[in-house]
Amino acid sequence: MKEKLEKLLEEALAALNAAASPEELEQLRVKYLGKKGELTAILKQMGGLSAEERPIVGQVANRVRGEIENCISGMAATLEERAMQEKLIRETVDVTMPGKEYVMGHRHPMNIALAEVKDIFVGMGFTILEGPEVELSDYNFTKLNTEEGHPAREWSDTFYFAEDSSILLRTQTSPMQIRAMETMELPIRVLAPGRVYRKDEVDATHSPMFHQIEGLVVDKGITMASLKATLNAVVEKLYGEGTKTRFRPHHFPFTEPSCEMDVQCHECGGVGCRVCKGEGWIELLGAGMVHPKVLQGCGIDPEVYSGWAFGMGLERMAMRRFKISDLRLIFENDVRFLEQF
Ligand code: DAH
Repeated sequence: MKEKLEKLLEEALAALNAAASPEELEQLRVKYLGKKGELTAILKQMGGLSAEERPIVGQVANRVRGEIENCISGMAATLEERAMQEKLIRETVDVTMPGKEYVMGHRHPMNIALAEVKDIFVGMGFTILEGPEVELSDYNFTKLNTEEGHPAREWSDTFYFAEDSSILLRTQTSPMQIRAMETMELPIRVLAPGRVYRKDEVDATHSPMFHQIEGLVVDKGITMASLKATLNAVVEKLYGEGTKTRFRPHHFPFTEPSCEMDVQCHECGGVGCRVCKGEGWIELLGAGMVHPKVLQGCGIDPEVYSGWAFGMGLERMAMRRFKISDLRLIFENDVRFLEQF
């Protein structure tokens, strides 16, 4: 039996010293020292020994167990140390390696232009409103003094949903004037930017979806003079001090009187060039004094209150601001284009 024990020790030490991981070490511990292990198996046979032999073999068995245990704890420490060293090597940071470049996204030119306009108006005490793109014909036309049969209501220009043409994709942001006047307390000063839709073929200056910014002021004693003063101030902020504007008479069903505002061409200073097509002026928006019928329809007494409104195209503004020559570039989302802003 002594020989058996010595052989077991020899075999166990060899196996333990070759263990490559804590898991393997644990398996070996169970194999040699466990309840069903090899050492226990040998010790079970001790009953068959004589009284003289038993203590001697017992001593050997204890020594073998002790040596195996020592070897296990020694190996455990060695493996732990080795794992730590490997981890340190694996996680070494090479500070001389070039870093990873993170590409930051940024705002779309339309959003930059919109944010500028919003900032200017918020600074003047305007509130920003948003409203539905799927709109009732009542709000898009009727309440804006655009009766049935008006050419602006043509099926050829407007995306209608219902057969009875009561629901549509709004063709202008002007319905937000009605929504504001119906729901807000007077006085009103609002700016309502958003998408609008018209049945247009796509080309360098047209798109079936584009953006407008609607402005509305309603209070006592509001006049055309404050419309002009406000818009002039806005234009100077957008295009630089001293930028000249021009107001031309025009017609809109929901304003009386109505006008269009042009800005003197930034390229030629009014002489006439390619950018302004020889005009010297570039049209920027439509505006006017809110029609008394429109005020009345929203429950506002036109004898007491008056107001002005305007609507400008955001694409046109952004194209001028960033010198973009083709409208399609704005919507194609080609990063080579977008990265320039
Ligand atoms: N809604 C008009 C359009 O789409 C623009 C406009 C003109 C808006 C005059 C107004 C306004 O608020 O007063 O052409």
